[in-house]
Amino acid sequence: MSNLEILEKFKPEAHNLLMILHALQDSHPENYLTEDAMESTARYLKMTKSSVYGVANYYTMFSVKPRGKFIIRVCVSPVCELLKINEVIQHLEEELGIKTGETTPCKRFTLETSECLGQCHEAPSMMINQEVFNHLDKPKIKAILEDYRKK
Ligand code: FES
Repeated sequence: MSNLEILEKFKPEAHNLLMILHALQDSHPENYLTEDAMESTARYLKMTKSSVYGVANYYTMFSVKPRGKFIIRVCVSPVCELLKINEVIQHLEEELGIKTGETTPCKRFTLETSECLGQCHEAPSMMINQEVFNHLDKPKIKAILEDYRKK
């Protein structure tokens, strides 16, 4: 589906900006907002390019550079931090062979951090795309990644 076809699903009103950016990002196989997508959005909503770029760069849920098929977002807010989320991140980095903020060479996984995922009662937590995982430990992470490597 082209950017224009996606844009035309929404009324050209500024309050639709976040939903439009989500739709454009989700439609891209590399899970990010291209220059072209952001420029088309600015034209469609009659906004300046810099305001669209500003929003895309402000929210951590958007990316302006290519990412993997699966975005792993690890919570680094206080409750998860208290429950040793750093060990979770270290284990993920070892398993994936990348650092936080990077994408695996096969373009399958991108590892990112996130603010509270609203799962504090079951922390430590992370999300892979829209799926939530709680009570993370080494064996659980290994099993989750094995599962996602097959998807
Ligand atoms: S602090 Fe991690 S889910 Fe809330």
